[in-house]
Amino acid sequence: MRKPFIAGNWKMNKTIRDSIELVNSLRRELLDIENADIIVCPPYIALSEISDLVVDSNIGLGAQNVYWEESGAFTGEVSPLMLKDAGCRYVIIGHSERRKYFSETDEAVNKKIKASQNVGLIPIVCVGETDEERESKKTTSVVESQLQGGLKGLDSESVSKLIIAYEPVWAIGTGKTATPEQAQEVHRFIRDWLRNNYSSDVAENVRIIYGGSVKPSNTKDLIKQSDIDGALVGGASLESSFFGEIVKNSL
Ligand code: PGA
Repeated sequence: MRKPFIAGNWKMNKTIRDSIELVNSLRRELLDIENADIIVCPPYIALSEISDLVVDSNIGLGAQNVYWEESGAFTGEVSPLMLKDAGCRYVIIGHSERRKYFSETDEAVNKKIKASQNVGLIPIVCVGETDEERESKKTTSVVESQLQGGLKGLDSESVSKLIIAYEPVWAIGTGKTATPEQAQEVHRFIRDWLRNNYSSDVAENVRIIYGGSVKPSNTKDLIKQSDIDGALVGGASLESSFFGEIVKNSL
């Protein structure tokens, strides 16, 4: 049985003060929950403050991005070690907004995964097709090539330590959630791909989470699907009551 994994991706929202307020209220909301991994991913500048607030709680901390070099002249970037130092255990890599607005390629995703794992961070690797790609029936080929490129050169042990997020681009921030069946179909495809390229063990253990307009009302039906192990939540993670409900509905 895979433990549900629910991550809140706050994107470019919340000041430090707002972040503290949100996480304090989440701590109260989620106090008794033990059987899910709950993660928040605030903006970089709030990470270290939030880390102090969640340190002895059931809430884990993740970053929304990372750079692959250890240090040096890379103005504006943040290294994996810096994220660890700020208290992160997780890092989102290859989010579709990074791919779209910042031209992030599968090759960059690959370097980021490797550099993050080198310092013991757990990557949450995002894949997913655009509307156009789905319309032209390219969903699985797009997802497959993102997996092939992103996970290139990783052995089974490294892959078994990843979280994979399937996020159809057309469902992100649009209110247009994939149906549970549409999501399950791609999750199953990803799990089969892991089985064929690594092992049954890897396929059975890696958590594959869904993202794209997840809200309290659709969580139960999504999570009921046999290959959906949790959610990557954007908009609805900015309200503690919504995010709390999503977590509770995933149990
Ligand atoms: P959304 O975003 O829940 O606002 O659709 C999800 C994501 O981008 O991770």
